Amino acid sequence: MNSAIVCEHVTKRYSSLTAVNDVSFSVKEGEIFGLVGPNGAGKTTLIEMIEGLRTPDGGSIRALGLDPNKQGGELREKIGVLLQATSIQPDIKVKEALKLFASFYEHTVGDTAELLHTLSLEDKANSRFRKLSGGLKQRTAIALALVNDPVILFLDELTTGLDPQARRNMWDFVDKVRKEGKTVFLTTHYMEEAEKLCDRVAIIDYGKIIALDTPRGLIEQLGAESKVIFKIEDSDMDAAKFESIKSVSRAEKSPDGFTLYTRDENAALQGLVRLADKQGFRLTSIRTESPNLDDVFLTLTGREIRE
Ligand SMILES: Nc1ncnc2c1ncn2[C@@H]1O[C@H](COP(=O)(O)OP(=O)(O)O)[C@@H](O)[C@H]1O
Ligand SMILES: [Mg+2]
Repeated sequence: MNSAIVCEHVTKRYSSLTAVNDVSFSVKEGEIFGLVGPNGAGKTTLIEMIEGLRTPDGGSIRALGLDPNKQGGELREKIGVLLQATSIQPDIKVKEALKLFASFYEHTVGDTAELLHTLSLEDKANSRFRKLSGGLKQRTAIALALVNDPVILFLDELTTGLDPQARRNMWDFVDKVRKEGKTVFLTTHYMEEAEKLCDRVAIIDYGKIIALDTPRGLIEQLGAESKVIFKIEDSDMDAAKFESIKSVSRAEKSPDGFTLYTRDENAALQGLVRLADKQGFRLTSIRTESPNLDDVFLTLTGREIRE
């Protein structure tokens, strides 16, 4: 499979700060690739260098075989860009903005009505940008990014600041784009979003890529354990008691109950139920939690991503 994007030893400094530090990776054609990390990690700096909007201090970048710095004009014909902060003339109507953006390109989508439909904006064509809600503004910005029928779509912080329903709409939209076979390069600081949307994820922290794999691969590599979380009625049992259950590596007591750590959720659950039977205590509110990308970040860095 061909690479849509290749970065080799890419570095960017802002005076004494190295915002992107010797980063190398590639993105395959048709892939949904996520760059994930906390605020200030270097995501926007990196994505904007690939788009040709910022200039690297070192290393090499190719997008669709083009050098974004030297062949920016040619590249911009073939990519769609959603910036982290969109600035669209507030009084322009949605359909006028589409027409205006279409005029910037040689090649455009045949039918802007279709584009409005893809983003569920049909009935907003005559609305002024400033009158739209946050979610609708974001959808309009994406419609504008798609007006040239791009090969690669860049989405910087696709869902930051959106309410949960608007976020889910965005996720559905990314699924549509995936089906069209476009390459998507997105950034997010929501691990859940990356896990849900991306074929592969690069985790960036302090300008360095510290892990890169499929979401499943990252979680498996880490060997993070699942948790079995439960409460017991009328009991002040000692957590150590649960460590006798086969497959449980560790048990903890907290104000909300007990947590068992295990690599085999089923065995731990069965063992727990058997122990309860034998010792005559009643279990309430049992649930399991599988490891996710938040756990991956925590294990790699020792910090929560939301810090
Ligand atoms: N134009 C700039 N001038 C100086 N420092 C910048 C500039 N843009 C970003 N930075 C700094 O570079 C680091 C990475 O920023 P950014 O790429 O915006 O990260 P992210 O998108 O992951 O939040 C941050 O410490 C930020 O303050
Ligand atoms: Mg950013």
